Amino acid sequence: MAEHIRKPGVLITGANGEMGHGLIEQLAKNGSMHIIALDVRPIDESLKKYCSTTIVGDILEARLLERMQSEYEIHTIYHLAALLSTRAEFTPEAAHRVNVEGTLNLLKIAIEQSRWHGQPVKFIFPSSIAVYGLPNKEAKKQAGKVKEGEWNYPRTMYGVNKLYCEHLGRYYANHYRQLAADTDAHGVDFRSIRFPGLISATTVPSGGTSDYAPEILHAAAQDKPYACFVREDVRIPFMAMPDAIVATLKLEGATREQLTQSVYNITSFSPSAGEVRDIVRREFKNAQTSFSPDDKRQAIVDSWPEDVDDSAARRDWGFVPEYDLARAFNEYLIPGIRKRYA
Ligand code: SER
Repeated sequence: MAEHIRKPGVLITGANGEMGHGLIEQLAKNGSMHIIALDVRPIDESLKKYCSTTIVGDILEARLLERMQSEYEIHTIYHLAALLSTRAEFTPEAAHRVNVEGTLNLLKIAIEQSRWHGQPVKFIFPSSIAVYGLPNKEAKKQAGKVKEGEWNYPRTMYGVNKLYCEHLGRYYANHYRQLAADTDAHGVDFRSIRFPGLISATTVPSGGTSDYAPEILHAAAQDKPYACFVREDVRIPFMAMPDAIVATLKLEGATREQLTQSVYNITSFSPSAGEVRDIVRREFKNAQTSFSPDDKRQAIVDSWPEDVDDSAARRDWGFVPEYDLARAFNEYLIPGIRKRYA
């Protein structure tokens, strides 16, 4: 019974990130299996109490991966570690290593783990609206609610990486070593959500291109001036962090039979940057938001759709966001952020 020597658990990579925070807290509240939190930086103090193991390490390091294999019995992997879309443009090759090779390493761990304990390892992979690439503003206007299979021409390294890893996950789940005599089908149960921009009341994003919306809000709450790097009229889909966490857990909890595809769009609301400014200004009267578009980051946002078609997620695993635009701000973001900076 070799596997009982190893500690059973749920592995979360990129644990210190915005999603990691929300997810780990919720998993702990739900009383789920032992949480193994992995990040390149020491795990935040606020998270440590929820984790049975915290590991500081790089998902590209062979030794770390071997140690994971020998010490833990993993049934679910939430692979959150990534370099986001703006950060990745400064070091595209490094981003490719983290985003693609890192994911490949984790998929290999999943396969190996499943061989040992005999059950499929659920691999939950956050993808992004960055996998879409509309050629210009006119196409973006006309595209409306974009379906998963449409406009898959990302213009960022991050988007390219995410789109490819969606395929890699599907390959590992369905076709891995398909010509071998001993194919071990279904070692990986790969499930992915294409998230819109996420807004949290408690954490500030870093390195993304949808960051302008949370930045408008967090700056206003701290009475700091903020020059928004996109035009007022630009519009992409967003979601409040609690809904993103619920969605992640709901997709993980769905039965295999419910799922007709491996990648799902989800969304909640699509305000323009100007509308975000207006809502924030109603609450924080002294907000000093100005608009000073950076043409290059603007072009990235212009290539992302205004809205996505989330009907497959609604149909297959019943996802409906709890927070629309008004509720997200009135009941979650504004009260949460006032508390955070009080
Ligand atoms: N929020 C991400 C970014 O801006 C998109 O998934 O990079």
